[in-house]
Amino acid sequence: MSTTSTTSKKSALTDPEQVPEAKKGRKKMTVPAFSARKGGAPLVCLTAYTAHVAHLVDEQADMILVGDSLGMVIHGMPNTLGVTLEHMIMHGQAVMRGADKALVVVDLPFGSFEESPEIAFRNASRVVKETGCTAVKLEGGREMAPTIRHLAARGIPVMAHVGLMPQQMNTAGGFKAVRGEDMWDAVIADAKAVEEAGAFSVVVEGVAEELAAKLTTEVSIPTIGIGASAQCDGQILVFEDMIGLFPRVPTFVKRYGNMEEMMRDAIERYALEVRDRSFPTKDHTYSAKKE
Ligand code: KIV
Repeated sequence: MSTTSTTSKKSALTDPEQVPEAKKGRKKMTVPAFSARKGGAPLVCLTAYTAHVAHLVDEQADMILVGDSLGMVIHGMPNTLGVTLEHMIMHGQAVMRGADKALVVVDLPFGSFEESPEIAFRNASRVVKETGCTAVKLEGGREMAPTIRHLAARGIPVMAHVGLMPQQMNTAGGFKAVRGEDMWDAVIADAKAVEEAGAFSVVVEGVAEELAAKLTTEVSIPTIGIGASAQCDGQILVFEDMIGLFPRVPTFVKRYGNMEEMMRDAIERYALEVRDRSFPTKDHTYSAKKE
């Protein structure tokens, strides 16, 4: 039986003849090399959901996450709970066609890993097989340690995710940052449990700076912060948030561009030119072929 494999086909975006300057001399990031960056130069991580964005992000990023935030920023869902394994696999395949040097990690969506370590392995191995990604990410702390151990011991590297866990928004009553000191011990215990279970790195989302600092010193795997201050070993942002292509602007997002404005302007000018017939011009038009 053959599994769907798109990994052997070379992508049009990764032409070896046209290696961008920023990628020259860079080695492909591996899981051990990523873990070894603990306490070293900050790890640059971003999400990507399409091949071309992955191609661009790959010029700078150490890690590309195909996160389940794609449900919100690409598919217009109100949260990440409706994301399926099929969504993750499809976007994972697209990203793998654009990425070359960065470590590609794909999120396990809500409902695909919580039931048992065996089910988690079945779904995570589908993600790895069908996308060609190197590792998976899953949300959860102490309660997910047996699952992380099961996957890691069977060849699937796991990035964990603690602190604010968007997949638990219904139990938490929304997207709630962890600020009060009374909650710190639980988050530190989660981080230690996932480390001990074999996670190679841990995303720390929406926590107070003091907690991020403490946690980062107490675990030996790299902490990747999102809304978790500069105290982490690396940072991640959702690409669409970072370039200003998504209306939400949580406090922790810095907008490095305003793509929404650029796109609106381009659409407006196009509509105007179609309406007044100034587009297309002769430059964009075929003339009859002379035999
Ligand atoms: O889904 C996602 O984009 C994430 C990041 C916020 C870390 O999990």
